Amino acid sequence: MLEVQDIYKTFNPGTVNEKRALNGVSVTLNDGDFVTVIGGNGAGKSTLLNAIAGVWPVDRGAILIDGQNVTRLPEHKRAKFIGRVFQDPMMGTAASMQIEENLALAARRGESRTLRAGITKAERETYRELLKILDLGLEDRLTSKVGLLSGGQRQALTLLMATLKKPKLLLLDEHTAALDPKTAAKVLDTTEKIVQRDRLTTLMITHNMRDAIAHGNRLIMMYEGRVAIDVSGEEKRKLTVEDLLAKFGQVSGSDEANDKLLLS
Ligand SMILES: Nc1ncnc2c1ncn2[C@@H]1O[C@H](COP(=O)(O)OP(=O)(O)OP(=O)(O)O)[C@@H](O)[C@H]1O
Ligand SMILES: [Mg+2]
Repeated sequence: MLEVQDIYKTFNPGTVNEKRALNGVSVTLNDGDFVTVIGGNGAGKSTLLNAIAGVWPVDRGAILIDGQNVTRLPEHKRAKFIGRVFQDPMMGTAASMQIEENLALAARRGESRTLRAGITKAERETYRELLKILDLGLEDRLTSKVGLLSGGQRQALTLLMATLKKPKLLLLDEHTAALDPKTAAKVLDTTEKIVQRDRLTTLMITHNMRDAIAHGNRLIMMYEGRVAIDVSGEEKRKLTVEDLLAKFGQVSGSDEANDKLLLS
């Protein structure tokens, strides 16, 4: 479903701020893979997701989504394949619009239909059913303005919108990091339900090693712009935080400062 072939990205080349953020990343995701991504600050996790989404072109290498080479496709042309949720609960939804209007916009993505013709009764019923999976009672608040929702409710709604059209790829960049622990756990639970229900191929960045271990069928750790660790199958199922720290120690040369970063 996703092939990332030896990609490189350097920001601000030739300046004092030059930074090689991706240093030869290769990773292949099979259909339905749910991959958790960990790594210290600045390891290149967000940059990898941005490269896949096409926020800017990579310097070298290729990216294929479902067999199609998208390396030179601009972001808006890749958007129809990709659902994204970021850390900031304010980002994925329109505050001044109603819940059902937000969902209708997500449903019309990539189509010429606008909201002007209104939302049909059938659509409204569909949204009501979809919202039930969140278990937040939003199905009874279809016409509430999104700006009135809590961060967790907004993030859950963003997740629903990002997955409404069953994307070929779901990219989650610390989408629960800004929420309180209880709300984060709930949104993560919903993520798991939706990913399983639709068998979505997913990359989920998290700073929480326990979450990274508990979710998905595969875990990768990034370090200095590369995939340093890639664990799947039985090994992933048996993985502990101690195993991960030991592996990270090997990769980073037991650098204590980096261990701390990883845990932060
Ligand atoms: N648009 C940009 N312009 C300049 N430098 C950037 C840009 N995006 C990322 N970088 C740099 O690239 C490196 C990798 O950043 P990235 O955001 O991918 O890290 P990360 O693994 O997501 O870290 P974190 O856990 O802190 O989110 C960092 O040094 C960062 O400062
Ligand atoms: Mg990041």
